[in-house]
Amino acid sequence: MLSATGGLYHPLLSICLALFLLLIPGEAYKDISDATLTSLPRPNGDFDIHNGALLAPILQPRVPGTPGATAVLEHLVNYVRTTLPNWHIELHNSTSTTPVSKGTPVKFVNIIASRDPPWANKGDIGRLNLVAHYDSKLEPTGFIGAIDSAAPCAMIMHAMRSIDAALTAKWEKMRVAGHTLEDAEGIQVIFMDGEEAFQSWSDDDSLYGARALAEQWDSEVNPALSTYKTPLSSISVFMLLDLLGAKDPTIQSYFEATHWAYKKLAALERRFRALKQFKSTTPRPWFPDAAKSESQIPKSLGIGDDHVPFLHRGVEILHIIDAASGSGMPFPAVWHTIDDDAEHLDMDTVEDWSMLVTAFAAEWLELEEYMSASGGNSSTKDAGHQNEKHSNWARKTEFS
Ligand SMILES: *[C@@H]1O[C@H](CO)[C@@H](O)[C@H](O)[C@H]1NC(C)=O
Ligand SMILES: *[C@@H]1O[C@H](CO)[C@@H](O)[C@H](O)[C@H]1NC(C)=O
Ligand SMILES: [Zn+2]
Repeated sequence: MLSATGGLYHPLLSICLALFLLLIPGEAYKDISDATLTSLPRPNGDFDIHNGALLAPILQPRVPGTPGATAVLEHLVNYVRTTLPNWHIELHNSTSTTPVSKGTPVKFVNIIASRDPPWANKGDIGRLNLVAHYDSKLEPTGFIGAIDSAAPCAMIMHAMRSIDAALTAKWEKMRVAGHTLEDAEGIQVIFMDGEEAFQSWSDDDSLYGARALAEQWDSEVNPALSTYKTPLSSISVFMLLDLLGAKDPTIQSYFEATHWAYKKLAALERRFRALKQFKSTTPRPWFPDAAKSESQIPKSLGIGDDHVPFLHRGVEILHIIDAASGSGMPFPAVWHTIDDDAEHLDMDTVEDWSMLVTAFAAEWLELEEYMSASGGNSSTKDAGHQNEKHSNWARKTEFS
């Protein structure tokens, strides 16, 4: 499982890959500069497992309908309300019985936080969606679910605040310049509830929050003449993080339509490491399918997870889950055991993931000019800008 990907870092191969990316016709997507990659804020003490402001409060049992779930819900909501006042927050509630609820409905609460250009009409704005589930599994008793998915929630929280000022700066510049009719994308974060099965995984016992949300967003209709007909169709990509925080992850590429974005993540990992901005070391890159073409990635629906109800309705999915291919247990060794706790997290890896998600979001939302170390002054030229003319531009055709 570990050896299959050796050699991916061969320099010639990297050059070929880079050329290949440059040659994709009409594709365009501005790479973030080295200067920005080196100056991104780190989570530092906020990821401390004992008293860190972001991660520690999530590291407790949070089974839907229990006080732990309410406490974590409040933590996430309060974070957005206090740290990210420009974000809109909404709770999506649903109820369902479960195999162990003895006929009593259990309440599931998805947390949806979004930020759009201030002039945008609801229905006219596509959004990058970052998603992780915040519930934890009922069994084993005391299960924490640190990689599953406390740490991914914290990674997203860090990414949200790290791009927030740049979003403000970008949209203010567009507004002042009168460019409010141009394409601008928003961002939406979903902290999903009820991902875990209560008894054993099945279509009915799993994905409680995601199934209810996908169904609602499919049937809800945006105002007449909207660019996007439903809230579901305004999802540019559904980027789901799950089972992240163990050392040396293996992230496979599952979907042809988003394989190009998967490659972007692989390129960012490579660049972070080359710039010595990653704390973790790894014997092999995290994204072993980066050198594959679309046609070489396996045709499957991937792994059962919160994306499935969205995938079935045609949403483009980027599933970032640590799962090896081949025989044997694909997930990290602590998966669904009592050992999936704070102490088993590899904190360097957790931090690095938060940087990678931040950089990816900044690239996707084209924030390079606004992410500079000086705090997003777009007229400040820094060293990184001189690379821009060599960077590839890609039009996100399939999403626009
Ligand atoms: C959804 O549930 C939350 C938390 O239980 C509650 O505060 C909120 O009012 C509910 N929202 C709606 C629209 O029912
Ligand atoms: C940005 O930097 C330029 C050049 O250093 C300066 O003239 C300008 O006032 C700055 N703008 C903001 C909004 O800080
Ligand atoms: Zn799980």
